[in-house]
Amino acid sequence: MEDDIRELYQEVILDHGKNPRNFRHPEDATCEANGNNPLCGDRLTVFVKVGEDESIEDAAFEGRGCAISVASASMMTDIVRGKKVVEVDALFDTFHKMCMGEEIGETPAEFEDDLDKLMVLSGVKQFPMRVKCATLAWHTMNAAVHGDSAASTE
Ligand code: FES
Repeated sequence: MEDDIRELYQEVILDHGKNPRNFRHPEDATCEANGNNPLCGDRLTVFVKVGEDESIEDAAFEGRGCAISVASASMMTDIVRGKKVVEVDALFDTFHKMCMGEEIGETPAEFEDDLDKLMVLSGVKQFPMRVKCATLAWHTMNAAVHGDSAASTE
């Protein structure tokens, strides 16, 4: 990766890590889950408001973690808003592959902008422990919207 791109990515991660978006506990959330990364003990709670049409009306989080996990949660809670649960499932699957350095195949056109944003986290593929940091919030949200109250990166 070019040095200037790497620097830009680091700036975006630091910005989200220091000033996380949607760091709050919405009272009207319809589901929530606690996520745990046993490797470091960091924990996040993700709150989601799912509408009657299965679209995500609001997403937020609280907790503590490293800059990557907080940045990932911050970006995720922005990106999923307005999407259907089934779309978020597909996006998580693609993002997870991106973090693992796996082939993601043809990107559905509707996800291109989102995956461009999430690309800043793709550097974790070189650091297997960091994959868990980048995906903790996504595992937790996935648990919340599918009726589980807890998620682990293990
Ligand atoms: Fe704990 Fe990244 S070091 S989530």
